[in-house]
Amino acid sequence: MNKNLNSFEVLNICCIGAGYVGGPTMAVIADKCRNIKVTVVDKNSKRINLWNDINLDNIPVFEPGLKEIVARVRNKNLFFTQNLKDSIKNADIIFISVNTPIKQSGLGAGFASDLKWVEKCARQIGELALGHTIVVEKSTLPVRTARVIKQILNSASTDNNSNKRTFSILSNPEFLAEGTAINDLLYPDRVLIGGEDDYAIQTLSKIYQNWVPQKKILTTNLWSSELSKLVSNAFLAQRVSSINSISALCEATGANVKEVSNAVGLDSRIGREFLNSGPGFGGSCFKKDILNLVYLCRFFNLNEVADFWYQIVLINDWQQKRIYELIVKKLFGNVDGKIITILGFSFKSNTNDTRESPAIKIANYLLIEGAQLKIHDPKVSHQQIAMDLKDFQEDKNGMSLNSWQFSKDVYEALKNSDAVILTTEWEEYKGLDWRSISKSMRKPGWVFDTRKILNGIEIKNNGLNYWCLGEGSDLEMI
Ligand code: NAD
Ligand code: UGA
Repeated sequence: MNKNLNSFEVLNICCIGAGYVGGPTMAVIADKCRNIKVTVVDKNSKRINLWNDINLDNIPVFEPGLKEIVARVRNKNLFFTQNLKDSIKNADIIFISVNTPIKQSGLGAGFASDLKWVEKCARQIGELALGHTIVVEKSTLPVRTARVIKQILNSASTDNNSNKRTFSILSNPEFLAEGTAINDLLYPDRVLIGGEDDYAIQTLSKIYQNWVPQKKILTTNLWSSELSKLVSNAFLAQRVSSINSISALCEATGANVKEVSNAVGLDSRIGREFLNSGPGFGGSCFKKDILNLVYLCRFFNLNEVADFWYQIVLINDWQQKRIYELIVKKLFGNVDGKIITILGFSFKSNTNDTRESPAIKIANYLLIEGAQLKIHDPKVSHQQIAMDLKDFQEDKNGMSLNSWQFSKDVYEALKNSDAVILTTEWEEYKGLDWRSISKSMRKPGWVFDTRKILNGIEIKNNGLNYWCLGEGSDLEMI
């Protein structure tokens, strides 16, 4: 173990949390820094077993390029374990990469981050660490959380043998997006390191310099780093809500949101990214991070600022609701007993993550109306869908009201349906054979494309009705 404050050499890294961030991030660090032993710890034994599964198709996070990296470094310098004690004791650097969801009850419920897992980590580190340890906030946290971590760690300044132990605290938020995580980790726009002591900042920076150009490594104070992460997500989500609000105006006026976002995004001051309208943003972070920002603003009595950011979440909820209402209206105001196929259950393509997926909200609304759903997704498991729709009955043999069925085969999922809703932009949905699908659907059949990826002309030519988000029909000129 290297605990020499004058040296930048790191031999052991520990990451607490083997989730969507901890797993891929540590895999890339291990791959790029073969001389460092990287240990990822999680209390969830099932997750750890899956990370260690011989069959790499079973690792718990699906990300393009991830299993190839895991194959190269697992059990060489990348280890997945439940052994928190040894992992913390041996670590020069500890990343805290645990979940920070919204609080469900108590003070700040519905807005504030639930920091109980982060606090637990800090206490575990405080109890077990030896010598000097750099503790890195990788989780997304409310601004000034580092102060809480520091207080907990400082209260544990000696170990059981009365040896002095010391800590440096850094904020190093993660900006990867699911589905492109490996690419984002390999070629980040920036790596942000916030901290107070230069030794720790330089030590972490050196690790990233193994593959990230130095000019992309940005250093700030702790609070700017923590806040920048929340603000980055808020800005990205704001763009999605902005264009989604315009999608409704396009439908009302005969404009086409694809054309509008293209025209607007070509202005280099605005830029083209994150202007793709859809069924509302999902994912584990946008909503929770904005709500957390709103909570912080209210805490500091900045109510106008809070209201501004809260509107982003409200528009997002409204977008999902308006899509559901529109579907019901097009189906003659009644979906009771109708079979509706949902294509795509993950919150975006190329991930098996369903957290806050728009498909869950839309499915819930339709099930309450009495629809019978058939659900397909190329990567989301049957078991995950059952957890997400736990309030509704699954019907494996036939279909009854307010029930849903999982289908492994996309054509099977479309058989006898009255309507199809495309909710996730999986590549494989782009090449569907609408001639044979139309033959197998009940008429009049509807296709609702919330991602604007299907060929509407082909669908209409095969006798189905087609609705595309953000596409206004030609209105008569006045
Ligand atoms: P996750 O739920 O997938 O993983 C968190 C893991 O931490 C879980 O497996 C849990 O069992 C484990 N854990 C919690 N407390 C523990 C403890 N005391 N000891 C051992 N293990 C413990 O979460 P995630 O998606 O990886 O997100 C982690 C953090 O990163 C969050 O703060 C999130 O906001 C942030 N983030 C997520 C993404 C993303 O794309 N998912 C991107 C950037 C930042
Ligand atoms: C997002 C950010 O992009 C990451 O930088 C950040 O690290 C991460 O949150 C986090 O903190 O968790 P992620 O949620 O994985 O990443 O995926 P995004 O690509 O941002 O998509 C989020 C949602 O917005 C998806 O439902 C997606 O379909 C939707 N979206 C995105 C649109 O509807 N239109 C767009 O133009 C872009």
